[in-house]
Amino acid sequence: MSNISIEKFIEGIPKTELHLHIEGTFEPELMFEIAKRNNKKISYNSVEELKKAYSFNNLQEFLDIYYAGANVLIEEQDFYDLTWAYLNKVHEQNVVHVEIFFDPQTHTDRGISFDTVIKGIYHALEDGKEQLGISFKLIMSFLRHLDEASAFKTLEQALPYKKWISAVGLDSSELGNPPSKFERVFTKAQEEGFITVAHAGEEGPAEYIWEALDLLKVTRIDHGNRCLDDEKLVQRIANSQIPLTVCPLSNLELKVVTDLKDHPIPKMMEKNILVTVNSDDPAYFGGYMNENYLEIARALDLSKQQITTLVKNSFKASWLSDDEKEKRLSEIEAYFQNN
Ligand code: HPA
Ligand code: ZN
Repeated sequence: MSNISIEKFIEGIPKTELHLHIEGTFEPELMFEIAKRNNKKISYNSVEELKKAYSFNNLQEFLDIYYAGANVLIEEQDFYDLTWAYLNKVHEQNVVHVEIFFDPQTHTDRGISFDTVIKGIYHALEDGKEQLGISFKLIMSFLRHLDEASAFKTLEQALPYKKWISAVGLDSSELGNPPSKFERVFTKAQEEGFITVAHAGEEGPAEYIWEALDLLKVTRIDHGNRCLDDEKLVQRIANSQIPLTVCPLSNLELKVVTDLKDHPIPKMMEKNILVTVNSDDPAYFGGYMNENYLEIARALDLSKQQITTLVKNSFKASWLSDDEKEKRLSEIEAYFQNN
């Protein structure tokens, strides 16, 4: 057995990512490159100037910049390049399985066809599986600041691609847009065979998490930080082992937490919640998977054992088959024992 540093331990452990918006992986360098070839203007003169704008007081301030960035994506190749860049990045970080969101309405509302978006993303994911060995699931997320009719239309557009899409999700501006607004479209999505997940309890109250569970019948909660305000809800989540896909650097950058030293992950673990670590929008929040694990390990003084538990939680919370899960869990246990 070797005794490597916590940094090396985190870098080397095989990981899975369950909360990642592909549009949130758009690095400024690639954004400028794609804008140029599409003759699209960016409101910033340089990569440096753009990066300086990445300072947010809340979710909405981030979303405004995130949607503006996505505007330069036009061709199928653009969506392919975006996804391919992400896969290569996380491949270097020993990420072996990803379950990623895409936001079709961000693009279809600008006149880009659903087919263009999904084909670019999906073909990159297939190539990533073949060439990098990264398995994947795709989650189509509805924008909750838009209305139910727009979500229904998007679901309709997705039906020919049902085989490519595992689940539907719910993201964008949380406050004022409760899960109940989308109950009917989520019911329809389930009838069509999709799994359901939803962002809840990032800025919104614990009540929104109850709604996501009871009305949208979600099998995972994205974020879910605010569950800790409600002990009954904590018990429900812990007893049912409904996973939370928590995003530490996102929480810090969007002021969901003021300091990583106060991040609720240890408390969630103590309460037997199946909590997982994810990067959300890594190009905007200053870190991919390894940086997220590393920053919480440092701020909260997490042990290799605790990191191992978090990594195992993610595989348990994934939609891999039972066999694949077993294989990954033993691999991770062996890695922990050897390092
Ligand atoms: N919350 C809500 N919507 C989002 C997020 C998020 O963290 N990232 C991208 N869209
Ligand atoms: Zn998110």
